[in-house]
Amino acid sequence: MIKAFAPATVSNVAVGFDIMGFPMEAPGDEVIIKEGKEPGTVISRITKGKGLSYDPIKNTAGVSVIKMLEHLGIPDHPIDIEIRKKMPFGTGIGSSAASAVASVVALNHYLDAKLTKRELLPFAMAGESVASGAWHGDNVIPSMMGGIILIRDNATLDFTKLYVPNGLRYVVILPPAQILTSESRSILSDQVTLKQMITQTGNAATLVAALYSSDFDKISRCLQDVVIEPQRSHLIPKFDEMKQKAMELGALGFSISGSGPSMFALCRNTFTSDNIEAAAREIYGKDHHGRDAAKVYQAPINLEGAEVC
Ligand code: HSE
Repeated sequence: MIKAFAPATVSNVAVGFDIMGFPMEAPGDEVIIKEGKEPGTVISRITKGKGLSYDPIKNTAGVSVIKMLEHLGIPDHPIDIEIRKKMPFGTGIGSSAASAVASVVALNHYLDAKLTKRELLPFAMAGESVASGAWHGDNVIPSMMGGIILIRDNATLDFTKLYVPNGLRYVVILPPAQILTSESRSILSDQVTLKQMITQTGNAATLVAALYSSDFDKISRCLQDVVIEPQRSHLIPKFDEMKQKAMELGALGFSISGSGPSMFALCRNTFTSDNIEAAAREIYGKDHHGRDAAKVYQAPINLEGAEVC
């Protein structure tokens, strides 16, 4: 029996729609792989994954495992999958990707297949595309590899792990709302003006340079999304208020995490991230059980990605 952990992720990073992402320290999903009772892949248990399918061909972890077994030439190998969801899905922190990634990392060790993390990516991507309805690696790749990931081409999974400056940390805020990635993608216009393209490519390219020179002021100037955020932010409760407060408190930037409704801030120190966390708890208030209505996470960017645990 092998258990693997794969972290939640912030994708897009404001200016890299479908091509940038980084993993969080927590939360993350755990997947346990063990020998099945009969030939083929079964999902025997899903904890805290209300609404997720036990049918392997409709489940991101199930599809990932099936694809990997096919690749290895042992499609009927008896495999039992247990998924321990540690985060809600439909929140924009790569829940489906984390299950897909954890499943193939666990399977790789269980079978002693000795594939590299890079070689495992296509199977997790196939699994994740079941949930997302599209082929983009900005959750799967950072969850697997760790660090800030820049993707040149999603089809061939041509990516680069970027330099992460010392001190850079995130705050991720999950408001009390749910948005499915497929829906959040369907509202996007497929038209971008020349002016928007110039601004977005300038910001994205300069962000990469600013990370390598640890130039926090320049990082801050780059974190401005003129294409996607204006089309999606209205779906997120209190987005404008939260963004304004985070920027007043010294965030380097603030935008939507993935397809939302989660939001993220990048910060240069814990003083700023602590203040933003406190502001988020205040802005979103309490739920009817008296608990904080928003979940808030903050930490340095996870540099390791998925692992057997
Ligand atoms: N890049 C994708 C999107 C991420 O924003 O739709 C989804 O998690």
